[in-house]
Amino acid sequence: MAKIVTFISGKGGSGKSTVLVGIANELALSGKRILIADTDTGLNCMDVISGVGEGAVFNWGDIFNGSCEVADAIYPSLNIENLFILPAPKEYNKDFCPTILKDLLRLISDNFDFILIDAPAGLGQNLTLALEPADEAVLVVNDDVFSLKAGKKAADIAESMEKSTTLIINAFRAFAVKNGLLPSVDEAMDITEIGLLGIVPFEANLNFNASQGLPYLRDTRATNAFLRIAKRLQGEKIDLPEQWR
Ligand SMILES: Nc1ncnc2c1ncn2[C@@H]1O[C@H](COP(=O)(O)OP(=O)(O)O)[C@@H](O)[C@H]1O
Ligand SMILES: [Mg+2]
Repeated sequence: MAKIVTFISGKGGSGKSTVLVGIANELALSGKRILIADTDTGLNCMDVISGVGEGAVFNWGDIFNGSCEVADAIYPSLNIENLFILPAPKEYNKDFCPTILKDLLRLISDNFDFILIDAPAGLGQNLTLALEPADEAVLVVNDDVFSLKAGKKAADIAESMEKSTTLIINAFRAFAVKNGLLPSVDEAMDITEIGLLGIVPFEANLNFNASQGLPYLRDTRATNAFLRIAKRLQGEKIDLPEQWR
């Protein structure tokens, strides 16, 4: 049975989708079978980032409507083996019940090692739908007070649903923290009141949008952070690099 992890953020633009795809890529490259389930209907770029792009005809809303079979809406990534995408509907149907995704993922969970769900930004009922199937949640924030406070609200919703939640600080700029311009890692944990899963450094040109023909480059500072987080999600104990401790 797959471990299901929902990535939440509270506010858009924290890099949630980028971080999710990076971690999914590292898990898949290590030989695990990975499904990304997109729930971000308005900004459902997951199929594009992962390279499925225009080839994605069906989504999980179509499965619900009976317009296609489950297997029709699951697309293999074009450039990474073992990675599959279940795209989001273009808009939410008011008839979707909160457990629609949970019920669907339960049916296919045995085919994967991990299912990573990209939650929508915001705090509404679509966030609840994305959290419902999760064994655990991961909050992705930028290291600024606004992102941390919005993230805390999303984490509170996850907690109210009894989903244990850990924190990824993304686009981390150590020099700005050192100069007192941004919260320290400790302060970020204090504001969100959750424990740290990982830190992803700011990396200019961190763009591996496969549909633009951009490859996923391993062994950069950011992608090494994705690899460390992928290992931690599998229960390995991997220390933070010294400069962030
Ligand atoms: N660690 C990072 N360093 C630099 N830029 C990043 C980083 N993570 C994400 N970005 C950039 O931030 C923007 C928003 O990322 P995205 O993943 O779409 O955010 P979200 O899904 O939270 O809305 C994108 O242009 C992405 O390339
Ligand atoms: Mg996104």
